[in-house]
Amino acid sequence: MIHVNHFKIYSDKVKKSLVLSCDSDWHIGEKSSLKRVDAVQKRVDRVEPDYRFIVGDMIDDTKVLKTAKRKELLQSIAIAGRASVTIPCLGNHDIAHKTGRGELSWEEDVPMDWLEQVELLTAGILTYQNRVYEGIVYLDDQVEVVAMNPPFEYYFKEEESKQWFIDYYQRKKLHFATTDRLHILLLHTPAVAPDCVEELPILQEADLVLCGHMHAGIVPPYARFAFGISKDHLGLRTPNNQLLKYAKYCWGEVEKNGVPFIINPGTTKLGPEKKLLQPLNCPLLLPNEMSEIEVIPTKQKRL
Ligand SMILES: [Fe+2]
Repeated sequence: MIHVNHFKIYSDKVKKSLVLSCDSDWHIGEKSSLKRVDAVQKRVDRVEPDYRFIVGDMIDDTKVLKTAKRKELLQSIAIAGRASVTIPCLGNHDIAHKTGRGELSWEEDVPMDWLEQVELLTAGILTYQNRVYEGIVYLDDQVEVVAMNPPFEYYFKEEESKQWFIDYYQRKKLHFATTDRLHILLLHTPAVAPDCVEELPILQEADLVLCGHMHAGIVPPYARFAFGISKDHLGLRTPNNQLLKYAKYCWGEVEKNGVPFIINPGTTKLGPEKKLLQPLNCPLLLPNEMSEIEVIPTKQKRL
């Protein structure tokens, strides 16, 4: 069972409608079940999207890659890659191991062999010269997909995050290469990005930004109307343990300066380290969720 969030965006860059499927935040640990991932796959098989995006945190901790779960995960990713054009990007948990109560360390822990295996099974590019890749990860005659992989600081700097993020990417000069394709930007955590559209060309160039990471602020879909009174889509708690008014951009579509950010709630709301709370991840309380986005030619909107 999976809850699907539907969105529509309009673009003059597509000649016919496209269907995009987006899932994220599997957070598979050694003891996790892959049932949630299977549920996403069943939905993808039924919908047959033009593209499927997995926007980060497939694993919870790189330690899982040294267990038998690695093989199971690879099988799921292989099935995804065969079923549709599947483009993954990396989240913080994909390149880090846990050192304590959920704290991540990722300086030394980029599992290149794993990322290369995922690349072979999907359509996306994750690695480049032994580094985590940032830039164009997929390009065809309809879409150009760019992934941003901001460093660790981006996830944890708080007050100073915005200026730091702007400075970092202004220095990097990250851009889309084409002008006529639909520009899809993959950015695992929205964090402060929606507040930086005016300053950052890569965000202005995007027709759509796909994010995850926020776990919908642990707000289930049926309670979101109460939290959605703010256009910034507040949650109860962010992955950084920020609460309420600081838990911004947690779920759904947030449009900033004409750029739609779609923040996918993910298949996991509470990660494996929340041992006692794990049962809350049951389908009724905190259902598995994914997003489907229909991209409609602007001409159809005018008719
Ligand atoms: Fe994350």
